[in-house]
Amino acid sequence: MSPVQFPPGFLLGAATAAYQIEGAAAVDGRTPSIWDTFSKTPGKVREGHTGDVACDHYHRLDEDLALMGDLGLAAYRFSVSWSRVQPGGRGGPNAQGLDFYKRLVDGLLERGIEPWLTMYHWDLPQELEDAGGWPVRDTAQRFRDYAVLLHDALGDRVSRWSTLNEPWCSALLGYSSGDHAPGRQEPADGIAATHHLLLGHGLAVQAFQERGATTGITLNLYAVSPETSSAADADAARRIDGLANRLFLDPVLKGSYPEDVKEDLREITDFGFVQDGDLALISQPLPFLGINYYSRHVVSGAGPVEPYWRKPGAWPGSGNVRFVERGVPKTAMNWEIDAPGLVEVLTRVAREYPSVPLYITENGAAFDDKLADGAVDDADRVAYLDAHLRACVEAVEAGAPLRGYFAWSLMDNFEWAWGYTRRFGMIYVDYEDGQRRIPKRSAGWYADVIRSGGLPA
Ligand code: NOJ
Repeated sequence: MSPVQFPPGFLLGAATAAYQIEGAAAVDGRTPSIWDTFSKTPGKVREGHTGDVACDHYHRLDEDLALMGDLGLAAYRFSVSWSRVQPGGRGGPNAQGLDFYKRLVDGLLERGIEPWLTMYHWDLPQELEDAGGWPVRDTAQRFRDYAVLLHDALGDRVSRWSTLNEPWCSALLGYSSGDHAPGRQEPADGIAATHHLLLGHGLAVQAFQERGATTGITLNLYAVSPETSSAADADAARRIDGLANRLFLDPVLKGSYPEDVKEDLREITDFGFVQDGDLALISQPLPFLGINYYSRHVVSGAGPVEPYWRKPGAWPGSGNVRFVERGVPKTAMNWEIDAPGLVEVLTRVAREYPSVPLYITENGAAFDDKLADGAVDDADRVAYLDAHLRACVEAVEAGAPLRGYFAWSLMDNFEWAWGYTRRFGMIYVDYEDGQRRIPKRSAGWYADVIRSGGLPA
């Protein structure tokens, strides 16, 4: 392979999320989120794992900041635990909780690492779920108030904000398939949750604008292709692209829900939850669109659907869709490795939703890492990251306004319903041995990539 240089100013960082790394679940005034409740419900998370301790990042902040400095990260994307800074999801701030994020941000700035703050990475305060959760309109208003609280506390030192991470997961895995917290299986509520998440985003964008600030959003987008050229497969691809991609891209960037998706969902919901003015709020201009990319969906119209996150509940209105396995190499998540899909997603967004700067806010892979003689030789992760970074450069050369890339993840962490059984980190976390951090081969490789601004041959 030939060496590749990134365009000038191309930002290279790494990402994490609060519930996945922080631990300290009941410390300094934090109250439970839906993930605390869900992970403690038997049978919901592999091996009964919870985020109670996670990587204990809350207590190991200095060590982790030093590791980020060693990597030479230009930016670090993290999320705030809502119930840590606003216990219960209402009312005034919790100074102790906010203090943690102030120390984090200050530590990043001291090291020349740009903080990228995500306001909501799936951990709704349990009290707000008890009041109805995302299917209820008031939750969007609560989110707006929380966004303002964050801006009041951190707006002097954070300039890169994102409202939501992967609302598809919050809405469809949380309320429709039930694979994620809060574990409800009510497809109509999954779609109402989608709208209220996006409304919360729009209200936060508006509140930020009133304060002279801006905030983006992060969507999980997929390449989607039909298995064959049959009409049934084409329709399956249209439906899955509709639910996974356009149901979110269209309202945020075009100010409307896709008509074909509304039609697919007609027996489930009439979209009566959309009120006048909502879509104008949701589609206000963004400073950037964050894209999380992991894989491609290849689909056929000849059901039945498959288990886990591909099961019917996650795809309401998708008809008789079957997710096809092509027999290509996969990660430990069973996700097919498809770097050309990333070029496809980026050039497609650039073409169909032009003029918004793009960042890959997550990309990475879980593999079966082995700690041997104090080291982890994760050549498969290096190959994955290398291929996807090359895809980024290819997309830029094809005209996509892509400005940067965040690897998922800085360190191994709580992989939601998979608990700690899946490792995505460039830094190994030895949960059994005092939370020891061991940079994997990929960490050294990524540090070289950042330092040289390019990929070796
Ligand atoms: C997307 C999510 O944002 C993140 O929390 C998760 O760990 C990774 N994908 C890997 O599944």
